[in-house]
Amino acid sequence: MWGWQVRELGAPSDVLTWTELPDPEPGPGQVLVRVHAVACNFPDILVCQGRYQEKPALPFTPGLEIAGEVVAAGEGARAAVGDRVLGTPPMGRGGYAELAVLDAASTFPWPEGMTAAQAAGMFITYQTGVCALHHRAALRPGETLLVHAAAGGVGTAAVQLGKAAGARVVGTAGGPEKCAVVRGLGADEVIDYSAEDLVARVKELTGGRGADVVFDPVGGDVFDLSRRAVAFEGRILVIGFAGGRIADAPTNHVLVKNYAVVGVHWGFYRTMDPPRIDAWQAQLAELWDRRAIDPLVGVELPLTEAPEALRRLGSRGTTGKVVLVPGAGT
Ligand SMILES: NC(=O)c1ccc[n+]([C@@H]2O[C@H](COP(=O)([O-])OP(=O)(O)OC[C@H]3O[C@@H](n4cnc5c(N)ncnc54)[C@H](OP(=O)(O)O)[C@@H]3O)[C@@H](O)[C@H]2O)c1
Repeated sequence: MWGWQVRELGAPSDVLTWTELPDPEPGPGQVLVRVHAVACNFPDILVCQGRYQEKPALPFTPGLEIAGEVVAAGEGARAAVGDRVLGTPPMGRGGYAELAVLDAASTFPWPEGMTAAQAAGMFITYQTGVCALHHRAALRPGETLLVHAAAGGVGTAAVQLGKAAGARVVGTAGGPEKCAVVRGLGADEVIDYSAEDLVARVKELTGGRGADVVFDPVGGDVFDLSRRAVAFEGRILVIGFAGGRIADAPTNHVLVKNYAVVGVHWGFYRTMDPPRIDAWQAQLAELWDRRAIDPLVGVELPLTEAPEALRRLGSRGTTGKVVLVPGAGT
């Protein structure tokens, strides 16, 4: 097969090599999948640079989320030859290739009626959204949910999941084009946080109360503003640090406003509580069946253009998911 390989660490455009690789063999419980689409994630950039928390041995192939067709199945696998599946390959033997393996615990049905690009993006970001909004924040119908970076990967999922849960969703994004995307996702209100006073707008939209739940994948200054925009007894979900700075939470402020700062490390549940991942994926499939969610693919490129895809992802210029598709150009 052909695929991308990283032989030394550095910027993706410098270290990704398009090369012929041995076809992987499915072990017990695994399936071998012909990749129809692989979704790009921020950690793909970090793993090339050697800056991600998990550091696969060199040489490795990146790619955390795939959708494709099973072409071989090991004993005890959760899918059969011909099944269409999605999931996340083992770290280092990833989906930036024509073929990839999936472990049993990482193999899920590709929902009926979904494109390959959508199916590839229906795992990590949506699982993170369900985990954060339902499991960690216990979001209730009628509550106000403030979603930051709402045009991005996890942000688009959180907007859709918040609406599906009956919340009033306020999305923030940087610039008018991204705000238009957030509006198109069904957000009730949109704030351009690069141009407007975020705290004043949230207070205005909530009759001075603030947001009950804040979904924050940006951190830094945005987290500092979220503390002021959160309601009495609200919950701030710490999702990520796309802005680069990890903010501190002053505990006196947490005390006087009676709010909670809630950590969300979705990947933790993959090893600590796999049945929960199965339940969340079933919940997502049910939401898709009644089209309460509809994954947004903002960029679709041939697999051979992986360095360009990661360049775009790393430059804050994308909306929804960035997806690579083998076939064209391979
Ligand atoms: N906790 C978990 O389990 C979990 C799971 C998945 C992802 N994450 C994390 O969530 C974060 C977002 O992931 P994603 O897939 O949604 O990424 P993404 O699609 O690239 O979206 C990130 C958004 O953050 C905003 N942003 C603000 N300042 C930025 C900066 N300096 N550089 C880049 N972006 C900036 C941008 O939106 P605007 O231009 O609108 O501001 C950008 O679109 C990442 O840190 C990721 O590691 C965490």
